[in-house]
Amino acid sequence: MAMLRLDKLLADEGVASRKDLREMIRAGRVTVDGAVERPLDGERVGYRRFHYYMMDKPVGVVTATEDKRQQTVLDLLPPDLKRMGLFPVGRLDKDTSGLLLLTDDGEFAHRVISPKSCVKKRYYAEVEGEADEQDALAFSRGILLRDGTQCLPAELTLLGGGKCAVTVMEGKYHQVRRMLASRGKPVLALRRVSIGGLRLPDDLGAGGVRELTEEDLCTLFKA
Ligand code: URA
Repeated sequence: MAMLRLDKLLADEGVASRKDLREMIRAGRVTVDGAVERPLDGERVGYRRFHYYMMDKPVGVVTATEDKRQQTVLDLLPPDLKRMGLFPVGRLDKDTSGLLLLTDDGEFAHRVISPKSCVKKRYYAEVEGEADEQDALAFSRGILLRDGTQCLPAELTLLGGGKCAVTVMEGKYHQVRRMLASRGKPVLALRRVSIGGLRLPDDLGAGGVRELTEEDLCTLFKA
């Protein structure tokens, strides 16, 4: 049978450092109550093999696990989450805000990102000028970027007032900005509002983070 050290398991959960946990265990402050739930200093810790979070990524922060000069999305996490080995699922540009997933589950990340999974990523864009029906048609046929890269068919919804919504199923470098630029509509502001069926809540706040529920995870992979 596979054995997992209790100090490692709880450290992976972000409860405390392994050193502190070993001291707490030695001091008899940790009790094991059944196979799934473990009370620790009065706090209940549900064990999950992998971890899944959403963040409302602010503008000005890079989507990376580390960077020598710039603030990263991991820098925004509270200390207990920083210890978990989370990484961003795909990336949002420094100048793009909105829904970013963080996990330690590589297979999950691949499933969300891969165009084969057909998980839709929806963005609100503010552009210079006004996107029109011709642009929407071009998006539905698949935009050919200026460097010759062919994009998959995507959806462009006209919202008026220089605003539009773009839905894509792939994540090429600066894709939405380049798609709109190729139609002569440079992006002024870009925000991701949903991934699959999972919407960014209005009240998370810039830099806010919360764990995904089981329901969120199901919603995510619903069309
Ligand atoms: N497309 C972009 O251009 N930028 C992003 O951050 C995401 C999609």
